[in-house]
Amino acid sequence: MSTAIVTGVLGGIGKASALMLAEKGYSVVGMGRRSDVDLSDFKGLDITYLAGDISSADDRQRLVDVATQKGDIAVLVNVAGVAPKVRRDILEMTEESYDFVMGINVRGTLFLTQLVANKMIEQGKGGSIINISSCSAYTSSTSRGEYCISKAGVSMITKLFADRLASEGITVNEICPGIIATGMTAVVKEKYDNLIAGGLVPLGRWGQPDDVAKAVVALCDGTFGYTTGQSFILDGGMHIRKL
Ligand SMILES: NC(=O)c1ccc[n+]([C@@H]2O[C@H](COP(=O)([O-])OP(=O)(O)OC[C@H]3O[C@@H](n4cnc5c(N)ncnc54)[C@H](OP(=O)(O)O)[C@@H]3O)[C@@H](O)[C@H]2O)c1
Repeated sequence: MSTAIVTGVLGGIGKASALMLAEKGYSVVGMGRRSDVDLSDFKGLDITYLAGDISSADDRQRLVDVATQKGDIAVLVNVAGVAPKVRRDILEMTEESYDFVMGINVRGTLFLTQLVANKMIEQGKGGSIINISSCSAYTSSTSRGEYCISKAGVSMITKLFADRLASEGITVNEICPGIIATGMTAVVKEKYDNLIAGGLVPLGRWGQPDDVAKAVVALCDGTFGYTTGQSFILDGGMHIRKL
């Protein structure tokens, strides 16, 4: 059976992606930081949960070892990510907050991708790697600069691995979500409700985790088999410049 690794599997986008991949027949192995987990959230599907931190080399290795025991790794979905604990103007951004965000969003994603890429090469059967970047990769938010910088970094991770792995039959693409209703945005719900009501998002609604999960599935089921190194913007049209 083909295995799919999903990080951030307890969060909005990670859980939706894991459920949809498991429904498609993948044996999913997911990692999240919490240990107090209600596994009924996984609806009895073939989803193995590991508590761990993708910024830890030992935890990344454990994740890949467990996934490999279940079968060849066909898919890696890098979902785990954090926003700064405190939003601060870029003139006040601290090195501690920068290191925290970059350590997970960039360093963790980069070295997990490296580990899985080497495993996929060893398996010799190709594969799909999907990174969840963000509209923040190309949109300035001066109150969370470290997050924007980290997501721009994820975009380059996508291109670098897409280039390096193309000859191995491994595609690497990224999804750049806009405003998605998850735990991450719950803290700024009122602000985004108002912005959406004011027309920020042409499609006029919040994105849902399933909107992203459907794109994840399409990027690993062959629908986009001739595409690699691509960014898929999934933001209800928010990126459209208007005059
Ligand atoms: N929501 C949006 O509007 C939006 C837009 C663009 C991009 N994104 C990106 O989408 C991804 C998923 O976010 P989400 O919206 O689904 O938010 P979420 O519900 O907060 O999910 C993020 C998940 O990542 C996990 N995580 C964080 N750091 C980790 C680490 N070091 N090791 C393992 N797991 C870790 C968290 O685990 P814990 O629960 O244990 O902390 C959490 O479950 C993130 O990369 C985010 O940047 C979100």
